[in-house]
Amino acid sequence: MTTSARYDEVADYYATGWSDDLSDPTTATLLDQLGPVAGREVLEIACGHGRVSRGLARLGASVTGVDLSSAMLAKAAEAREPLGITYLQADVASPDLLAGRTFDSVVCSFGLSDIDDLDGTLATVHRLLRPGGVFAFSILHPCFPGVEGVSGAWQGSYYDERWWQADGSLSTLRQQVGANHRTLSTYFNALRRHGFLVDALEEPQPEIPADSPRAAMTSYPVFLVARCLRA
Ligand SMILES: C[S@@+](CC[C@H](N)C(=O)[O-])C[C@H]1O[C@@H](n2cnc3c(N)ncnc32)[C@H](O)[C@@H]1O
Repeated sequence: MTTSARYDEVADYYATGWSDDLSDPTTATLLDQLGPVAGREVLEIACGHGRVSRGLARLGASVTGVDLSSAMLAKAAEAREPLGITYLQADVASPDLLAGRTFDSVVCSFGLSDIDDLDGTLATVHRLLRPGGVFAFSILHPCFPGVEGVSGAWQGSYYDERWWQADGSLSTLRQQVGANHRTLSTYFNALRRHGFLVDALEEPQPEIPADSPRAAMTSYPVFLVARCLRA
């Protein structure tokens, strides 16, 4: 399947809005689910401008980051602290990606709904992860219908699996790059089919001030973090 680098158009916007601060509840949970990384070889798929890769490297991991967007990777290369991270421009669904390499763990922060080929990607993760290794990912919760005009993981029917583009005024990123909506069962069954055991699920509650236009989102399952083991 061909896939386009939608983030080439938004790399400046993304790098300005998403900083190296990884203390938000979802990213903190993601790193917690990934477990200790010091001295380990970690692969970040859909690494973007490398904010999570840098966080992992600061924790002592040896990190490889892969992303489809050369503009996002150019931002990663501009980082003041290179931290020894290896970046690679590629589609993570490619069957020959990093052929011959293996990793202790694989992480994906808010990337799976941007990736068009879920099956190809999970095949890659399974091939590159050592037996017993952890694959941890975060996504916008696929059961979250969104708050009218604000933000959300899909529009229309939950059962309508397709690429969509947000129209909510505060959904500034998804207006530009869209996302692939898949049901929770699609994710779970694809993980099982590709040899992963879903070991833990977390639904971190967003921290949003009560006077924010996004305040209603604290009542919904907006984020999902999964820890999967390579069977
Ligand atoms: C929302 S950004 C997340 C970036 C980073 N993980 C973070 O947390 O800031 C999604 C990323 O997925 C990347 N992406 C989309 N499809 C991809 C593919 N098939 N292979 C590799 N990266 C892909 C995009 O280029 C983009 O950088």
